[in-house]
Amino acid sequence: MADLDTYIESNKDRFIAELLDLLRIPSVSADPKYKADVARCAEAVKMRMVEVGLEKVEVCTTAGHPIVYGEKIVDPSKPTVLVYGHYDVQPPDPLDLWHSGPFDPVIKDGMIYARGSADDKGQFFMHVKAIEAMQKNGGLPCNVKVMIEGEEEVGSDNLGLFVRANRERLKADVVLISDTAMIANDTPSIDTGLRGLSYVEVEVTGPDRDLHSGVYGGAVANPINALCEMIASLHDADRRVTIPGFYDDVDELSTAERKALAEAPFDEEAYKKDLAVNAVRGEKGYTTPERSSIRPTLDVNGMWGGYIGEGAKTVLPSKAYAKISMRLVPHQTSEKITKLFKDHFERIAPPGVKVEVRPHHGGEPVVTPIDSPAYLAASKAMEESFGRKPIPTRGGGSIPIVALFEKELGLKSVLLGFGLDSDNIHSPNEKYGVFNYLQGIRTIPRFFRHYAAMANGR
Ligand code: BES
Ligand code: MN
Ligand code: MN
Repeated sequence: MADLDTYIESNKDRFIAELLDLLRIPSVSADPKYKADVARCAEAVKMRMVEVGLEKVEVCTTAGHPIVYGEKIVDPSKPTVLVYGHYDVQPPDPLDLWHSGPFDPVIKDGMIYARGSADDKGQFFMHVKAIEAMQKNGGLPCNVKVMIEGEEEVGSDNLGLFVRANRERLKADVVLISDTAMIANDTPSIDTGLRGLSYVEVEVTGPDRDLHSGVYGGAVANPINALCEMIASLHDADRRVTIPGFYDDVDELSTAERKALAEAPFDEEAYKKDLAVNAVRGEKGYTTPERSSIRPTLDVNGMWGGYIGEGAKTVLPSKAYAKISMRLVPHQTSEKITKLFKDHFERIAPPGVKVEVRPHHGGEPVVTPIDSPAYLAASKAMEESFGRKPIPTRGGGSIPIVALFEKELGLKSVLLGFGLDSDNIHSPNEKYGVFNYLQGIRTIPRFFRHYAAMANGR
């Protein structure tokens, strides 16, 4: 590994420059106005994959944004790692809160600032560079297939179809993903689970047109008032979700499991300080780390309606809207939770308003094993590069395709992420540490080596 580390050290400036080039491409999947940029980013990813010696590299078109696929089969009798990542990014707004342009990357105090730096360009590109480093230093110890998609941030619907249609091509022994965070740079950890997601949009309609709020106010239901009441009623005084049946399938962790998770260091004062809040708030009976990983939640992500322009316009609006997400834990399913929400929300509508609930994309929760060869290889690899054994933790975010890899390909994933919660993913001033980026490139070849050795008797 000494040669590999030397190679990475002497090429690090170029590795960083290549990442910055990718970060300059605004590959925002949610907004159609970036469609050409997303396609351009797929081509750039393809070029980088070809450059490092991957074969059969292809930009696969879908009904949405393309998927970039490539592979290197060194020996069919050896195990195969399927690397998954995403080159699409979240929209950059609100733009005025960025200290530098979201697609104009700058490095400051050891951090790379740009949309997608941590989520997920900086993380998937570590794999491309790790493959380069292995290729230049004795070759890959096992087979690799690399699949980088362009629709993760919008639910991966087309990737789901692609996976079902390409079972043979994607045949592998394990999926390796760097798209999560660790506890801290001196406290490595590996997520062993992800939450699922139900996402709905609600529309509340009162009168068939906007009305004068003096002439009609107080006499007819105001849909924004009604929506606020309905949303407020979705949590009780213990901050538990009030939708009947919401907790029915929740996998309640044993005292021992909760104790093991509590081993991970967590500083609540630092957490509050970082977020500039004077208190934490969440479900009674659970700690902050538990509330943000092993417990299901319900949050309003956006809400609008009525007059929001300059000054005051006295108007009783006709419509009110909200986007609501529910994070799910094993063994909840997005289909069931979405239905429970819809039925409940329609039922609690006050007289005088109509409610429509429109489901968006969903995703299923997952837990990953901590005794598999792949997890042990990842743990060993991190222990070598960080000098500390990583702590198994549970992640709060969602990567919907992970459950599908299990269902459609029968593959478990290893979530070998190098980000930090403080990276501001999906927020203004997203950042990724130069240390984290290079540390990932140093760790991934170690994973391959240990995995190739351990998975031999598969
Ligand atoms: N990389 C994140 C998921 C993540 C972040 C997992 C941090 C664990 C820790 C991913 O890109 C993401 O943002 N997923 C979306 C899924 C959705 C758009 C379907 C999410 O979690 O909101
Ligand atoms: Mn991501
Ligand atoms: Mn994301």
